[in-house]
Amino acid sequence: MQGVDPQLQAYYGLRAGYYDAVYERPERAADIALLRQLLMGRLTGRRVLEVACGTGYWTQHVAPVSAALVATDATPEPLDLARQRPHAERARFAIADAYQLDAGLGRFDAAFAGLWLSHVPIGRRAQFLRSLHRLLEPGARVLLFDNSQVQLRDFPIVERDAEGNTFQQRVLRDGSVHRVLKNFPGQDELVALVAGIGTEPRYRMLENFWWFEYVLV
Ligand SMILES: C[S@@+](CC[C@H](N)C(=O)[O-])C[C@H]1O[C@@H](n2cnc3c(N)ncnc32)[C@H](O)[C@@H]1O
Repeated sequence: MQGVDPQLQAYYGLRAGYYDAVYERPERAADIALLRQLLMGRLTGRRVLEVACGTGYWTQHVAPVSAALVATDATPEPLDLARQRPHAERARFAIADAYQLDAGLGRFDAAFAGLWLSHVPIGRRAQFLRSLHRLLEPGARVLLFDNSQVQLRDFPIVERDAEGNTFQQRVLRDGSVHRVLKNFPGQDELVALVAGIGTEPRYRMLENFWWFEYVLV
């Protein structure tokens, strides 16, 4: 997979078994409940593509309400766990690189990606959106959400490159140390990103997460 960052993939492969700890933190519970509610509300009855589904935390909530759901991720380990979630039988799972989504995955009238855009280098955001939009019908709803800067309390920025990408140092339970690209785009950046390709951009800042949605032109 040409588009995949092997370091990021290795990191999420190693972390898969205990990734879900991020959803068990009590201080995030209210925001997570709201995100679940927003997702389920927007995606009910839709044919949905999920990008970078990871261990399928959101997949399990969208699967029962969507008309169809294809959940994709580049890394086999989290995807194997996603396949064991409740309602997994209502989704199709596929290994796929977000930057090169294959037309064979289907045609969709909605898409979402949780906690993914933060890992997309600034210079590759347009590439990701092109790849995604190729599989979507005009009028499709796109939902993106990710960590707010509150997450920096756990993982401060240790590096910034010339393009403005920021990096964190993450230590896994096996003691391995990983340099992880983690960006925190603001409302203006997100709105500018979809100028001319998306309408009705809506941004919402929660305490621990941001939410952004638009309708594909
Ligand atoms: C922070 S996790 C998010 C998982 C899930 N969406 C969630 O919100 O819990 C990021 C995911 O991106 C996946 N990933 C990394 N590079 C990718 C790529 N090029 N295409 C698709 N998924 C990728 C990783 O395997 C990992 O599962």
